[in-house]
Amino acid sequence: MKPRVLVTRHVYPAAVAILQEHCVVDYKDTYDVMDAALLQKRLQHADGVVCQLTDPLTADVLAAAPKLRVISQIAVGHDNIDVATATARRIVVTNTPGVLTEATADLCWALLLATARRLPAAEQFLRAGKWQRWDVDLLCGSDVHGRTLGLVGFGRIGQAVARRARGFGMRVLYASRSAAAPEVEQELRAIRVPLDALLKESDFVSLHVPLRPETRHLIGVEQLCLMKRGAFLLNTARGPVVDEAALVAALEEGLIAGAGLDVFEAEPRVHPGLLELPNVVLLPHVGSAVTSVRALMCALAANDCVAVLTGERPKHPVNPQVLG
Ligand code: DGY
Repeated sequence: MKPRVLVTRHVYPAAVAILQEHCVVDYKDTYDVMDAALLQKRLQHADGVVCQLTDPLTADVLAAAPKLRVISQIAVGHDNIDVATATARRIVVTNTPGVLTEATADLCWALLLATARRLPAAEQFLRAGKWQRWDVDLLCGSDVHGRTLGLVGFGRIGQAVARRARGFGMRVLYASRSAAAPEVEQELRAIRVPLDALLKESDFVSLHVPLRPETRHLIGVEQLCLMKRGAFLLNTARGPVVDEAALVAALEEGLIAGAGLDVFEAEPRVHPGLLELPNVVLLPHVGSAVTSVRALMCALAANDCVAVLTGERPKHPVNPQVLG
């Protein structure tokens, strides 16, 4: 009998085709998000699930999926999944690293430049018909070239952001639990420093850590107070890494110069204070939103789901200990 796989929401059709070759696929082509109760119902008979960061695969939801053998997440972050419970149940969890690294680093740079040079404000000004003439101080922003970039987290994406910083002649600092290999530090001319030192010295602080209990509100009042008054905070990682209320207060009080945010604490809800502020650039979680990249992510998740269900080793297990 073919294994049954639930695909929770709209994906690229090629991913469904990959799954259909080996599995019975439960798929409704909808953008709607399933809540926990609906997920529990639809997972009752599933051997596998291809899911997204909008799906709460909590311990309670997993308890309603007695046959589940694999959870394939179409994203690199997997904080919506209770991996500890999955691991205890010997359910393989997979994700999609690698294919989105460069796209996410590109977006981070787009956000950095847009924030420093006030691009959304400039475009709105023009579209509103306010542009009368060239003025010496019209829509002036901040320098990027030659400044200091501080990367909090130095995995694949953090390193890809650092690589681009070389073209801007920037000094690169990073804070991370472990040091990168010496050849990586040398290639990227990146210097590892404690987080506090990074916050004090950087003109741009960019976050690249996964959301874990220890990274929740990693950037709060205390950390924002350490940053330079002219510095910018960039978040393309996960919203809850920043205490959003503290960030709004810091921006209102002028403790930092601005922020560029692609992720939010309670997505898709955005803190109303952020929406009021002129010195923030806000994006709807589009870090990896490149058509070819999203297609690769969908295919990778489908292939890894099939791999587990057909007794092969998946490419990107999050909990490899389950595979033995
Ligand atoms: C991820 O992969 O975790 C991003 O947030 C979505 O691409």
